[in-house]
Amino acid sequence: MANSVTSLCCVVLAAVVVAYAQRRSQLGARVQYERMGSDVTMQCGSLDSTAAVTWKVNGTDVRARHQQDGPQLVLLEVDLSSNGLYSCFQEPNGERRDQINLRIGRHPMFPV
Ligand SMILES: *[C@@H]1O[C@H](CO)[C@@H](O)[C@H](O)[C@H]1NC(C)=O
Repeated sequence: MANSVTSLCCVVLAAVVVAYAQRRSQLGARVQYERMGSDVTMQCGSLDSTAAVTWKVNGTDVRARHQQDGPQLVLLEVDLSSNGLYSCFQEPNGERRDQINLRIGRHPMFPV
């Protein structure tokens, strides 16, 4: 009995890990989960605070209310329309340094 409970645990855990890894590689971006209505900070890779970067969402300019501080993009009071694929490019060459898939709201794996 205890044994089958233990193996069931392992199977479930393995499935979760595989699902998460697949999702990550599919999108080629890390996923950041945030709560609706909060201010969200996204950091461009490990660039230091003096780095100059440009942020895009879904390949276009960020139109939502935001602030930018060096390599960090701060979205103010996010809602569902803030979901998207955020990419940052380091100036002056425009080299892509990071990609973040922003997910607002609740997610079954990460209950709020
Ligand atoms: C980005 O694209 C996704 C999927 O098409 C869409 O749901 C989302 O609203 C877009 N985000 C922005 C900020 O335009």
